[in-house]
Amino acid sequence: MIITRFFSCKVWQLLIACIGLTGVCYAQPLSKAARDSLKKLTEEDYRQMLHTLHISSLRPGPSGNPQASNAANTNEAKATPYRDLPDALVLDNGKQVTTPAIWWKKRRPQIKEYFDREIYGRVPAYMPPVNWQVIAVTDTVQEGIPVITKKLIGHVDNSAYPAINVDIQLTLTTPANAKTPVPVMMEFGFIMPPGFSFPSSNTQPTWQQQVLAEGWGYAIIVPTSIQADNGAGLTQGIIGLVNKGQRRKPDDWGALRAWAWGASRALDYFETDTAVDAKRVGIEGVSRYGKAAIVTMAYDQRFAIAFIGSSGQGGTKLYRRVFGEQVENVASSSEYHWMAGNYIKYAGPLTPQDFPVDAHELIALCAPRPVFISAGSPQIEGNWVDAKGMFLGGAYAGKVYELLGKKGLGTMEFPLIETSLTGGEIAFRQHSGGHTTGPNWPYFIRFAERYFAD
Ligand code: GCU
Repeated sequence: MIITRFFSCKVWQLLIACIGLTGVCYAQPLSKAARDSLKKLTEEDYRQMLHTLHISSLRPGPSGNPQASNAANTNEAKATPYRDLPDALVLDNGKQVTTPAIWWKKRRPQIKEYFDREIYGRVPAYMPPVNWQVIAVTDTVQEGIPVITKKLIGHVDNSAYPAINVDIQLTLTTPANAKTPVPVMMEFGFIMPPGFSFPSSNTQPTWQQQVLAEGWGYAIIVPTSIQADNGAGLTQGIIGLVNKGQRRKPDDWGALRAWAWGASRALDYFETDTAVDAKRVGIEGVSRYGKAAIVTMAYDQRFAIAFIGSSGQGGTKLYRRVFGEQVENVASSSEYHWMAGNYIKYAGPLTPQDFPVDAHELIALCAPRPVFISAGSPQIEGNWVDAKGMFLGGAYAGKVYELLGKKGLGTMEFPLIETSLTGGEIAFRQHSGGHTTGPNWPYFIRFAERYFAD
């Protein structure tokens, strides 16, 4: 467990080490001096935000190392001291939401406003246009399937602030012989340098091969080409470009919404590409990119389906649950940049009990569209992501799906590992592997077939 948690950290470290302020990700590990400088700039930005929020002290989060004296709780008996999970179907004035119309007109906007203001931050009202250019097209054969791969750059209009340049990196691969536009699964991922690959099981084809075998296409968008994955980068990337190099206000967007915004711009491009059926585009990601994937799905109703891998705290895991990673960890200087500045208040003057919403309501924002929540095993992935907390996020979102005539998870009981709960529009499966969606891809694909079938 420790090994895996540290291993997954190591993979991120290697990848994150190669993400500079420019956000371009290639395996050029940063020098110590560059890392120190990033850390210093991050601490400065963080301190400024605490100052703006009038926060003088914060509660530290627990450790992800199970051997540490301040290890995160993994004892289920101590996991739920919080009361009063907000009810997705009760309006702020205490009235019950009894019809889909009240959900769409009144309750959904209330929930969205809370996520905007307190949790993920607001996308600025005016966003510059993105000009997509196909920079290379290649014809290859992958596992016997002829495919066309387009390499794209989405250049964000920076005429209002030329000091910052944002070029979103995207690749799209579709079956060459398709007669009609195809569904596409897009992943928040990395464009790997030659020779690099994540450790994977060789008993199963890659997710890309599985998707192609269905006759679908796949795309990979590089989040760090939109917004760097650190606090130092908040005055750069798309957030910095629109803020003209200034620091964020407490309700300005963080990296998760910036990454989600980039995914929406990729979907704009798909709407113009005749190879893609833009009404059947799904989004997938793991860990911090699993958080980005659920945020994408919640905020852009054009996405048809989502596959959310081990998203943990700040993703589909309930905030009001003392198990694994806590709000305090995400509010720390190493992770706060994912969120709005206001989120930090809940690790200082406020507590997780004070959040006006909880993670189940983020999933509810996706209703009635299908969402598959994925986790790995406690033995291999560890407990940091809190599989049960993510399951409960899905379970409590169910009543909104039901109001809209769909089915939720169908149970409030956390299932045994490797049980597929895929009968409704919210699905859950905990596989027996590590910090990856890998072993759940075949189950997700069966689930997605219901929505992607011709
Ligand atoms: C850390 C962080 C998690 C995050 C993960 C990742 O473990 O605490 O919230 O999901 O990194 O992205 O790998």
